[in-house]
Amino acid sequence: MCRSSLISTDRNFAISPFQFFYKLIMTDRKTHWDSIHANKLNTEVSWYQAEPKRSIELIFEFSTPDSRVIDVGGGQSFLVDGLLDLGYRNLTVLDVAQSAVDATRSRLGERADLVRWIVADVTQVAHLDPVEVWHDRAVFHFLTEEADRRNYVNLLKRSLLPGGHAIIGTFAIGGPLRCSGLEIRQYDALTLSAELGEQFRLTDSFEEDHQTPTGKTQRFFFAIFSRM
Ligand SMILES: C[S@@+](CC[C@H](N)C(=O)[O-])C[C@H]1O[C@@H](n2cnc3c(N)ncnc32)[C@H](O)[C@@H]1O
Repeated sequence: MCRSSLISTDRNFAISPFQFFYKLIMTDRKTHWDSIHANKLNTEVSWYQAEPKRSIELIFEFSTPDSRVIDVGGGQSFLVDGLLDLGYRNLTVLDVAQSAVDATRSRLGERADLVRWIVADVTQVAHLDPVEVWHDRAVFHFLTEEADRRNYVNLLKRSLLPGGHAIIGTFAIGGPLRCSGLEIRQYDALTLSAELGEQFRLTDSFEEDHQTPTGKTQRFFFAIFSRM
């Protein structure tokens, strides 16, 4: 399809060039991640963890099994398995890739029915039910466009209950510059706090190394914010 036929001149359907390219980025994001999850083994991707121990410990520290917890960009992570094992029953997993959600649901079998699944781009979600814990390992750092980061933070503000906690893991300063063929942004306590703004108080932060399945070391930064 040629570009001129996509940017309609019909007044009812006309979109601006900005909207046109933004839509392209959004479509690309979904296609990209769907294809990654559909074509690579869960155990082959660089972010694979057989047991996401650190995330489980942090979520457990800031919640109880009754708490409402969302894993943003959960992909095929084993986090949901670990939390179900601990008795968590108010879990939501959100991911842009249908293929990731399908794979995780099928791995969980009947236990998948205990989880709420949302296939969506986190930067495009208008509403989520309120949560006590928001967990994101390796999603926020892909948001290289300011508008996407603003949408993400606004959704976080709307969804995280006062006193609730956001646990966000990104690549650290000095860590990888790309992941899955995409550019990322690296963070530390100062820069991630600045992105989230005044309604979030930094409770704790640390860096840790992740070993990829091919033996590379990736420096991650984790921060825990309390919603004011
Ligand atoms: C690097 S992987 C991390 C997966 C998982 N959090 C983990 O630690 O194993 C990034 C995940 O976020 C999803 N993702 C990327 N951009 C997203 C977006 N804008 N909205 C929702 N999910 C997204 C991808 O499909 C993928 O599953």
